[in-house]
Amino acid sequence: MRVYLDNAASTPLGEEVIEAMLSAMKGLYGNPSSIHAEGRQGRAAIETARKTVARRLGASIGEIFFTSGGTEASNTALKCAVRDLGVKRIISSPTEHHCVLHTLEYLEKQDGVHVVLLKVDEEGRVDYAQLEDLLRDGKGPTLVSLMHANNEIGTLLDLERVSALCKAHGALLHTDTVQTVAHFPIDLSKTYVSFLSGSAHKFHGPKGVGFLYMNSENIVRPFLHGGAQERNMRAGTENTHGIVGMARALDLAYEELDARRAYIESLRNYLKEQLRSNFEGLQFHGDQDHYLYTVLNVSFPPSPKAELLLLNLDINGISASGGSACASGVDVGSHVLTAIGADPDRKAIRFSFSNYNTLEELDFVVEQVRKSLGVGEPSIPR
Ligand SMILES: Cc1ncc(COP(=O)(O)O)c(C=O)c1O
Repeated sequence: MRVYLDNAASTPLGEEVIEAMLSAMKGLYGNPSSIHAEGRQGRAAIETARKTVARRLGASIGEIFFTSGGTEASNTALKCAVRDLGVKRIISSPTEHHCVLHTLEYLEKQDGVHVVLLKVDEEGRVDYAQLEDLLRDGKGPTLVSLMHANNEIGTLLDLERVSALCKAHGALLHTDTVQTVAHFPIDLSKTYVSFLSGSAHKFHGPKGVGFLYMNSENIVRPFLHGGAQERNMRAGTENTHGIVGMARALDLAYEELDARRAYIESLRNYLKEQLRSNFEGLQFHGDQDHYLYTVLNVSFPPSPKAELLLLNLDINGISASGGSACASGVDVGSHVLTAIGADPDRKAIRFSFSNYNTLEELDFVVEQVRKSLGVGEPSIPR
């Protein structure tokens, strides 16, 4: 048996997504910028996909730019805000994805941007009062960049609250919603957001394609120079089948959003309860009240067996991760766990779920964790 519980790193492609992409790969080979029939067909498919993304997020079609994924979307948002919108200060957090944190380091060094990382508590919640104080002090044009949900520990941001604060104090807001697009409804017609990043491979779409939402009030210059694609903003021939696949995956996710959510959340909470009743001294990391339901991050008391747990799970058929994707199977430590003050001697494992997982798989996981740690029979048999 092979159990895939690393869906926060990437998800398997949906069958219907593969069908849509295959059909696009076979039929939509024309360059979408060409004016002949094949080109126009490709263009039409891309614009239909744009309409889908915009409609699902409550945006207008002119506010959606297709990118190569979440990393490019966040890089673009932050760099354009500094280059074109006069941003001099960026308020963020130490638990952001590296695509934001490393971009901030670059902007600090390269452009002298003043970067302030908010305090986070032991569950990974940002200090909202500190954010408000900073916004109140009015120190120059400011952008706030905070992720909607943390990819390692699943802590959810109160996006409405941050949005209201930014709006009230005239700050721009970028949010990395890579883990939440297609998992939580987001309505940009009602929520003040300047930039938002999304990525298809986190919701059963293809890798290497995502999007940047940019509020139409923000007028920026091209991100990439060359052709006139993406309304002159991002040059380069579009990834037609990737974009088509992303839109199909988004539609499918939205059609089943509530049912998928209920199911995945029940899986998460089942595994949490099973782990809790079978093992002692566990710690669940991240906010356990307001959480990304696809993620469960748990750490075990230090022991030589716990040290090897992730590796042994992999050998025995279970794929999970030690943190973010780059830490999968490799002990490189986690900047998120460090930021929340987690004990570095405890081994943390991130189990992350999709609607493709089953309860039977989770029973198998508990059994394998037990074997790996050398713990006795389950206390609560199902
Ligand atoms: C929160 C978050 N932001 C950004 C990214 C990067 O997205 P992509 O892989 O599409 O570049 C990821 C992916 O791991 C993520 O989890």
